[in-house]
Amino acid sequence: MNFRKLSVRDLDVRGQRVFVRVDFNVPLRAGSVGDDTRLKASLPTLQLLAERKARIILASHLGRPKGKKAQALSLAPVVDPLSTLLSRPVRMAADCVGPEVEGRVRDLAEGEILLLENLRFHEGEEANDPDFASQLAGLGNLFVNDAFGSAHRSHASVVGITRHLSSSAAGLLLEREMEMLSRLREHHESPYIAVLGGAKVSDKMDLLHNLIGKVDAILIGGAMAYTFMKAKGMSVGASRIEQDKIEHAKVILARAQETGVGLHLPQDHVVAPSPEPGATCRATRGVSIEKGMIALDIGPKTRESYRKEIASARTIFWNGPLGMFEVPPYDEGTRAVADGIDTSRSFSVVGGGDSAAAVNALDLGAHFNHVSTGGGASLEFLAGVDLPGILALSRAKGGTA
Ligand code: 3PG
Repeated sequence: MNFRKLSVRDLDVRGQRVFVRVDFNVPLRAGSVGDDTRLKASLPTLQLLAERKARIILASHLGRPKGKKAQALSLAPVVDPLSTLLSRPVRMAADCVGPEVEGRVRDLAEGEILLLENLRFHEGEEANDPDFASQLAGLGNLFVNDAFGSAHRSHASVVGITRHLSSSAAGLLLEREMEMLSRLREHHESPYIAVLGGAKVSDKMDLLHNLIGKVDAILIGGAMAYTFMKAKGMSVGASRIEQDKIEHAKVILARAQETGVGLHLPQDHVVAPSPEPGATCRATRGVSIEKGMIALDIGPKTRESYRKEIASARTIFWNGPLGMFEVPPYDEGTRAVADGIDTSRSFSVVGGGDSAAAVNALDLGAHFNHVSTGGGASLEFLAGVDLPGILALSRAKGGTA
């Protein structure tokens, strides 16, 4: 997919009402923003627009309220942290369409920012309803899409809106994501290694299918490793497995063998009788996990062998932590592999699911060339899908760059 699109840099935005679709679908903890990665990622575009004296209208979804207003999914908790990060006031509207919002938009001064309420409080958003898209478009003169994380959704504020405005451009985050992920998808150097972890093998089946045939090796860690071990007839003790995915895991193992992709499972583990913090843990001697023990991280031998694999890689894609990283010391495997990536000569990208949040929680972001803000969007893109949000920008009025 050639991504040649008008850039926000090329728009003449002074005094214009610029409708900016961002992805502020952030985790909330006790009513506050739990991880501000996506807010920080939006700053370059917002700063550029504010400095160039645009009147900025920000729109995002949060969660899946299914077309109904749900106070717990209001974007209000975003206002203060965003305003602090930008060192500018951010105002908030009570809705995302309607006469009151239109009035608030009319009152915007140059360089001012108005955040609209959750787009998904209206059914028209996910339905890509033309009337709803036209109402959103009516708020601005120009459209900027900087919501890479939502680019795989054919929704009104991502796709429909581009039909109604004279110019639609890509934001700086969207551009960077496309540049980095295209390098992985289309121009990667070999050896190309994928590091896959996380809890659920069911979430990763499609990803695994897609990666086999594209990568040279896959290093598996996290709870998903134990479903694969079980599929190979190994003893997994009391470790978490997904019984109904065992057959699927066998298919993936067979496919990897047929195609010659090295699918590596842990050779040893850090185990404990319970996942509770403070439970006595130890490394297993070999690959087997004894009865009653739960594997919570990859063991020292696996760390070493994964690091060796990584040292020879030229391209690395990482998705998901390798152990129960939230509870130290089960973060050691994830940290060791991230250190290995840091010291390798590879081009490395983190993407998909909660991977960015995990990497940031461990303060490992600087170990990678790029930490994608996309969950499903980055995985679909890497699987070869042309994302509707990107296609819409390419086809929109305003022309390609
Ligand atoms: C994400 O977090 O992956 C995006 O914001 C898309 O959210 P959705 O899966 O609810 O559409």
